[in-house]
Amino acid sequence: MRSHEQTVHTQFDPRAEAYLLSAVHAAGPDLEHVQGLLGQCAGGLQRALDVGCGAGHLSFAIAPHVGHVVALDPSANMLAAVTRGAAARGFSRIEVRCGSAESLPFAPESFALVGTRYSAHHWTRLPAAVQEMSRVLEPEGHALIIDVVAPEDPLVDTHFQAMELLRDPSHVRNRSLREWRQLLAGAGLTELEYRQWPVRIEFASWVTRMRTPETSVAAIRALQSGAPREVQEALALEADGSFVLETGLFWLVKSSQS
Ligand SMILES: C[S@@+](CC[C@H](N)C(=O)[O-])C[C@H]1O[C@@H](n2cnc3c(N)ncnc32)[C@H](O)[C@@H]1O
Repeated sequence: MRSHEQTVHTQFDPRAEAYLLSAVHAAGPDLEHVQGLLGQCAGGLQRALDVGCGAGHLSFAIAPHVGHVVALDPSANMLAAVTRGAAARGFSRIEVRCGSAESLPFAPESFALVGTRYSAHHWTRLPAAVQEMSRVLEPEGHALIIDVVAPEDPLVDTHFQAMELLRDPSHVRNRSLREWRQLLAGAGLTELEYRQWPVRIEFASWVTRMRTPETSVAAIRALQSGAPREVQEALALEADGSFVLETGLFWLVKSSQS
């Protein structure tokens, strides 16, 4: 019987190239917004950490604004993709590091910016990981958290999380806006801004990227076609299985007292 950590490796190690090339990950209104936020940080930032960097798209967005970026992920293949992607883009100040969000291998107050994008829904101990992100952040440092946001309606949420788990067994949970706000406040991170965008997920590339087995694809299709009208409408389900999810972005500051 394998552990969740092994499942993460099984799921992500062979898919590094697919994530480097994935249109959903390489661009988006969230990454455009990041450019604006970081452009406002007067004097630039010294050191930034990207937790669960995957193939590195958040690191690439941060790099022009920061002296040094550390891209952290448990998957060595993802880190190799970051190194290739950074070289192709001419970024020489991105360092890769193997590790997990729940136990960050850094001293307290090591970074002026700690970010994460589309990774937190894989973390088994999210409260501990958010505390870790706060611990390694300098006082008055900024945190940037981007992830899929769970629907508040339990009926829609249950169907959506089931689709996610069937597609990728390393999925743990998307959190609702309310859950996120509680966690972040408990870690001494004060919200400066929150933005949310709908993202259309094209079904074929969504399952192909994770090489979802045919039996699981069939189960997702059965779940979708049997879903009640409220769920189909909330997810804007299309005939081919494509749907719309919500991406949330938190821009936060660590209070000097925490
Ligand atoms: C969808 S990819 C990340 C996408 C990337 N951040 C981007 O902006 O394109 C999710 C990543 O989370 C990583 N991951 C899974 N569990 C993790 C954990 N406990 N701590 C840190 N990263 C984790 C996976 O290895 C994978 O590379």
